[in-house]
Amino acid sequence: MRIAIIGSGYVGIVTGICLADIGHRVVCVDNDLKKIQSLKALKLPIYEPGLEALLKLNVAKRRLSFAISVVEAAKKAEVVFIAVGTPSKKSGEADLTYVEKAAREIAKGMNAYKVIVEKSTVPAQTGQRIERAIRLTLNEKYKGRKASHIEFDVASNPEFLREGSAVADFMNPERIVLGVQSKKAENILREVYKPLNARLIVTDMNSAELIKHASNSFLATKISFINAISQVCHRVGADVMKVAEGMGYDKRIGKEFLCAGVGYGGSCFPKDVDAFIRLSENSGYDFALLKEVRNINEAQKKFFVKMVEHVLWNVKGKTIGVLGLSFKPNTDDMRSAPSLDIIKDLQKEGAKIKAYDPQAMRKAKSLLKSVQLCRDPYAVAKGADCLLLLTEWEDFRSLNLVKMRKLMNHALIFDGRNFFCKAELAKFGFEYFGVGIKNEQPQR
Ligand code: UDX
Repeated sequence: MRIAIIGSGYVGIVTGICLADIGHRVVCVDNDLKKIQSLKALKLPIYEPGLEALLKLNVAKRRLSFAISVVEAAKKAEVVFIAVGTPSKKSGEADLTYVEKAAREIAKGMNAYKVIVEKSTVPAQTGQRIERAIRLTLNEKYKGRKASHIEFDVASNPEFLREGSAVADFMNPERIVLGVQSKKAENILREVYKPLNARLIVTDMNSAELIKHASNSFLATKISFINAISQVCHRVGADVMKVAEGMGYDKRIGKEFLCAGVGYGGSCFPKDVDAFIRLSENSGYDFALLKEVRNINEAQKKFFVKMVEHVLWNVKGKTIGVLGLSFKPNTDDMRSAPSLDIIKDLQKEGAKIKAYDPQAMRKAKSLLKSVQLCRDPYAVAKGADCLLLLTEWEDFRSLNLVKMRKLMNHALIFDGRNFFCKAELAKFGFEYFGVGIKNEQPQR
């Protein structure tokens, strides 16, 4: 099928490349000329495992191209995906300006029946608004002539891709949600996803939009729940990792998303939870549970900083080394990464920060002020009074701990992801503090 993807951000680019890989002819569109030029030169604006190889392969096979003009791309496509950004407004509500703009541009390129698919995470009823925006633009353009009655369908097809495993998630989805208004649109979208042979959930547009919000909010709730449990563990001397393991074997609970630590970050959970709280409020429901989910997440970062301060005693003038800056491993994304808040709070107290991340150094450079960015973990360790592990990159498992210990002023590790094994580190002479596990009393 001929497909246009409007918006070549994270979601758009992964979706576009993967749709090309399963056999469609795809054009990815963005109004950022630099981005399009670099994609044409086979350079990805993001780091995502496996994606670059697929980009090269599908461009070579002439199934994938890049363009600036939404109107031109929409003209040639049978299916148009809207994958533009939906940033948060100050109120937490999603800003849908780009979605409306994309819809109006698509309408200008409308010359025959097309399915317009919303892929961006949007509040319920956005599909209806997109439909109206397209209809109005068609009327303006054709001023009541026959062409203003061009048929089209709007559909909702939320994405559930996780950064770091987005290609695998796309190719082997647990479900694909299709919110449609007509059998015709349903059949076309079934055709789009046919090569994946996946479970399809077909429903109306409003329900599809809510599935996305409800899923992300539920996952965020699961993380905040285990983080709240970690607080109790910390106080009563229990081990949150064992508690999570014991809970997780119950199939109704499940093992995933029960890792306690410095909380969730990224481009989705913080923004989506905020947007869902607002959406509920606007519809007359106070989603107090989600507000608490958000509070717990913020408190985890503060708690971690307090723990560091408690053990170091005076933070002022001390050198703190940070391992891991991205909001999670296997990505260079630092949007709402817990590292940003934690580093800022420690700097406020007068700490000197050195840091390293396997992929996020370029982004860190523009986001972090007065942080000494180091070429590797050993350069971070040199002269550090303690280390903080904030992202659980597998690379950190193979650190030479003898070398690390020798380089540090004090062999002290604060593990914000409960990633290292405390007993193992103790063998190398490290004092270890995790989140919600039995920690030693600081030696004074
Ligand atoms: C999430 C959803 O998983 C995905 O379905 C949706 O499409 C986009 O949002 P993503 O933001 O890529 O994906 O990351 P995810 O793996 O879900 O992790 C989100 C955050 O939660 C990370 O900061 C991660 O470190 C944190 N997390 C995750 C925990 O703190 N504990 C856990 O047990 C799991």
